[in-house]
Amino acid sequence: MLKTRLVAVDKDYPQQQLINAAAEIIRAGGLVAFPTETVYGLGGNALDEDAAAKIYAAKGRPQDNPLIVHIQHIKELEGIVEDVPPGADELMKTFWPGPLTILFRKKPVIPSGTTAGLDTVAIRMPDHRIALELIKAAGVPIAAPSANISGKPSPTCAQDVLEDLNGKIDMILDGGTCPVGVESTVLDLSGPVPLILRPGGLPKEELEKILGHVEIDPGLSPGQRPRSPGQKYRHYAPKAHMTLVEGPVKLQIAKIIDLAGSLESSGKRVGIMATAQTRQEYPLGIVLSVGDRDAPLTISSNLFSILRKFDRLGVDEILAEGISREGLGLAVMNRLYKAAGYNIIKV
Ligand code: TXA
Ligand code: MG
Repeated sequence: MLKTRLVAVDKDYPQQQLINAAAEIIRAGGLVAFPTETVYGLGGNALDEDAAAKIYAAKGRPQDNPLIVHIQHIKELEGIVEDVPPGADELMKTFWPGPLTILFRKKPVIPSGTTAGLDTVAIRMPDHRIALELIKAAGVPIAAPSANISGKPSPTCAQDVLEDLNGKIDMILDGGTCPVGVESTVLDLSGPVPLILRPGGLPKEELEKILGHVEIDPGLSPGQRPRSPGQKYRHYAPKAHMTLVEGPVKLQIAKIIDLAGSLESSGKRVGIMATAQTRQEYPLGIVLSVGDRDAPLTISSNLFSILRKFDRLGVDEILAEGISREGLGLAVMNRLYKAAGYNIIKV
């Protein structure tokens, strides 16, 4: 059991001595959780196979699920990838730092322990001062999956990280809540058409402004085999059983009231994940609004913390409303599908 240090850091002007202490841990092969614009990451030296092994152990992560490597300057790419796929230069210029992860062919300096044996490496540059300063001070790229126990909702504040990883990692840099709230978009440019392997914080529509047509990995549909190893696992799962209701909003509300009624009469504690527009409509259940349907960023940034909140409230069943798949809505719906274990009712 490690002693996990929780350290508050200013997100706009990170204190250099705190960043240096964290960087020292990374260089020595230890693990530091840090904030990014998407979710908290669990960081270790990406060039150190033993650090990667520690990350898998701390999270209880399946061995075949590769890690994302984080850099703070484009010039770092040269040392770690064989080449830059067509289209990537323009994307990096436009969207880095930001919630976009791109696949590259890796150089041998990236150990196979970091990429779960794949010859590709997923790389991104996070849009967060603390993350960028930490990578810079460490002087090495940092491998970082989301800083949660594998399968649970990703952490969007330091308390969530502590809840999952206290005693398993060396340090947590507390930089407040993560503004985007869902993980980065993972993009594969190696084929004839750019392919989204995981929808995320950078909307498909934004990518299409630069790349033209972009496809979503058909393997992400229920029952299919996704290309990105991590996407095949149950994920983001609250302790409660969860049902997602999709369709016209009025019908969603009616269905959820109906379901909540029968669950409550059989003695179940019911949580309803509503929206700003609909929260007043429910006469029963523990109703929480996840955000505003007209501002999907308010929903993405709250999603995982609401799932964790329902767990803390001890609900047995979560009934969630579906939202539009436009913009960030695509990533939100992908997370809701998985959180519900594909337990979906269409009305
Ligand atoms: O926003 C994010 O991406 C966060 C923050 C911390 O940066 N990180 C994150 O990492 O979400 P993680 O490990 O929770 O998810 C990584 C995803 C997995 O679905 C994994 O399978 C995929 O990226 N991935 C990583 N390397 C890959 C590769 N070489 N080929 C295909 N998929 C890859
Ligand atoms: Mg994750």
